Amino acid sequence: MLQGKKILLGVSGSIAAYKTAILTRLLIKAGAEVRIVMTPAAKDFVTPLSLSTLSKNPVLVDLAENDSWANHVMLGRWADVMLVAPLSCNTLSKMASGLCDNLLMAVYLSATCPVVVAPAMDEDMWQHASTKENLKKIASFGNIVIPVENGELASGLIGEGRMAEPETIIKWLRDFFLQKLELTGKKILVTAGPTYEPIDPVRFIGNHSSGKMGAAIAEEMQRRGAEVTVVLGPSDISMNNGIKVIKVKSAEEMFNACDKIFPETDIAVMSAAVADYTPVKTAKEKIKKTENDLAVELTKTKDILKHLGAGKKAHQFLVGFALETNNEEENALKKLQSKNADMIVLNSLNDAGAGFGHDTNKITIFNRTGNPISFETKTKKEVAVDIVNNIIQQLHAKN
Ligand code: CTP
Repeated sequence: MLQGKKILLGVSGSIAAYKTAILTRLLIKAGAEVRIVMTPAAKDFVTPLSLSTLSKNPVLVDLAENDSWANHVMLGRWADVMLVAPLSCNTLSKMASGLCDNLLMAVYLSATCPVVVAPAMDEDMWQHASTKENLKKIASFGNIVIPVENGELASGLIGEGRMAEPETIIKWLRDFFLQKLELTGKKILVTAGPTYEPIDPVRFIGNHSSGKMGAAIAEEMQRRGAEVTVVLGPSDISMNNGIKVIKVKSAEEMFNACDKIFPETDIAVMSAAVADYTPVKTAKEKIKKTENDLAVELTKTKDILKHLGAGKKAHQFLVGFALETNNEEENALKKLQSKNADMIVLNSLNDAGAGFGHDTNKITIFNRTGNPISFETKTKKEVAVDIVNNIIQQLHAKN
């Protein structure tokens, strides 16, 4: 898959830079053509001589060398992909703000090819709010972030922040070329998790949704190059960097967030388990126990999927979920029509390993045309791949 691919490797100053020697060797072994640009700081961690020997090409560091100018524009145009590995905190910050003070930054800013980054830093730096902000920012520019790994760090501490191993980076590159990033440039909205409908300051009506299915779909969409926003109900599930997460609690908050984002969205996947009813009144203070029984009056929530379906434009693709216990197929087809969705993903509580809480799911996909497609029980990550593949097929059929 990497045979003949032109990889422009940008090395910035981090202890993980020593791994780029192995990375370069693996890329060359896989048949790729490799050119390398280093920041001046990276030279402290790995020598240009090592990397030029392994890549079989001169390594560039300065904008001008021996009175000749390094043509950063042509380098960015030459490459099929620019891989910045390791991505240091400093270079990340420059990428987020567009600061051009070295050759690597000049190449990055003029690159017309996709850019993939593999961050590497100590855990405290990794967790800093500015790092998170900068990562979000560069992901919003369309850069693809390879997740960091957990393990021993240069400081001796154990934690998050290690650069992905060279073998993992190679796998990402292989997947990248394999999938041709069908969703690059697409904006995706995913709802996930439960909603909590407040009865009083301490009590709510909720459900057992974990948000795992929605998170898996969001990550799969991101892997295909999309810009993903998740509107997440109360759930502590974590998602890859670069996925924008808007946290909400109630169905009303989820509705408002989706209503705002949907006009800018290409594909919306409503996988949240939204409460259908909410208390008419939320008591301001904790309801005290009395001798009497208590009735909580409920009113219907707004149906987000139906609302988005009603306002859907021709270029938008809308996916709903249906969690059923009986008359599954009939109910799923009804939802496809009544909510003006383009696809309904059915999971039945009658199937073992499907629905809430499990790491697995068993789905049937209903499209506007063609027969329903049933899948075996799979992990939620695998189910997400099936759903995203099917969405892409439907989009191709539509255009
Ligand atoms: N949904 C929504 N807003 C709601 C309720 C549901 O967006 N207030 C979405 C869910 O995210 C899901 C789909 O609608 O994608 C179907 O949800 P489900 O609860 O199965 O269907 P309902 O229409 O609520 O009907 P019922 O509960 O009676 O089956």
